[in-house]
Amino acid sequence: MSTILVTGGLGFIGSHTSVELQKAGYEVIIIDNLSNSRYEVLERITKITGKRPEFHQIDLRVKKDVQNFFNTNQVDGVIHFAASKAVGESMEKPLLYYENNITTLTYLLQEMRVKGLDNFIFSSSATVYGQADEMPITEEAPVKPAESVYGYTKQIGEEVMKHCCNAYGLNAIALRYFNPIGAHESALIGELPIGVPQNLIPFVTQTAAGIRECLSVFGDDYDTPDGTAIRDYIHVVDLAKAHIAALNRLIERKNKENFEFYNVGTGKGSSVLDVIKAFESSTGQKLNYKIVGRRPGDVVSAYADTSKANRELNWKAKESLDVSLASAWKWQCAQK
Ligand code: WQD
Repeated sequence: MSTILVTGGLGFIGSHTSVELQKAGYEVIIIDNLSNSRYEVLERITKITGKRPEFHQIDLRVKKDVQNFFNTNQVDGVIHFAASKAVGESMEKPLLYYENNITTLTYLLQEMRVKGLDNFIFSSSATVYGQADEMPITEEAPVKPAESVYGYTKQIGEEVMKHCCNAYGLNAIALRYFNPIGAHESALIGELPIGVPQNLIPFVTQTAAGIRECLSVFGDDYDTPDGTAIRDYIHVVDLAKAHIAALNRLIERKNKENFEFYNVGTGKGSSVLDVIKAFESSTGQKLNYKIVGRRPGDVVSAYADTSKANRELNWKAKESLDVSLASAWKWQCAQK
């Protein structure tokens, strides 16, 4: 049985991926520093799968601890989620983002190289495309100058991997996530935003739950059918499954190049108003919202061409926007 290290495995995407890895028959070892996650998530994963992943509370910025981990653990692959992900915060604390998102990546890759380990999956982001010139966005679309330090760390991360794949023969895949939403059907794991949510879906569910008074829709004067911005919202379990597909490809040596990258989205664009309507109809909840000005830095539209992932990874997102939003609402209701 293959053993996979999942860094940031108690976070939103990491926890769902740990569950899917276990379901696919992998042994899972989780590293997390609990900076933006909770220890209870480990119990929740165990409850879902019936098997407790091995857990190490390690901060990947402490090189000695990373070395110790690899001195005492043998793994067949690494899925690297541990990173900071708040766009606004990244502009205020750039060094934190370079340290959390880049330094830790180099420590991990360095230790993998020393131990001769292979098979690395990296969490990248659709933000690398900025405002793409054509929709849907294919992997051929150019990487545009980053609008935020967060986005820049994802671009650098991909470059770091590419160079390591060239120099050391490492096999790696970067997954460029569009907008992950929703929660596991059990409502035992989901997204746990700290403070006022910056992302649309947690703000929607918290508004419906009465925690927030009113959702602000950022701009209705974009050049889109209803004037609100368009994104590709993907169910987190579908996203988790894309990691298993990518990992299998590397482990089975089906990859065509040392370093590959894939869009991970549904291929369907939804406007903010589409999301509000779908939320109301799939949950029966009325949402209090108002139109306000545009949010600085937002792109008009971003949705994926997923044909490369469909073809090469044999993976496709299955869940509809309605199902994803209903799962997010079920998760919100479980947070009492
Ligand atoms: C979606 C749409 C908003 C909140 C960001 C990061 C990206 C990734 C995911 C990951 C936009 C609108 C939002 C609100 C609104 N990061 N909106 N009212 O901006 O596409 O992507 O999160 O870890 O790297 O850039 O996602 O959910 O913030 O916004 O109208 O209160 O909803 O303007 O059009 P975004 P989002």
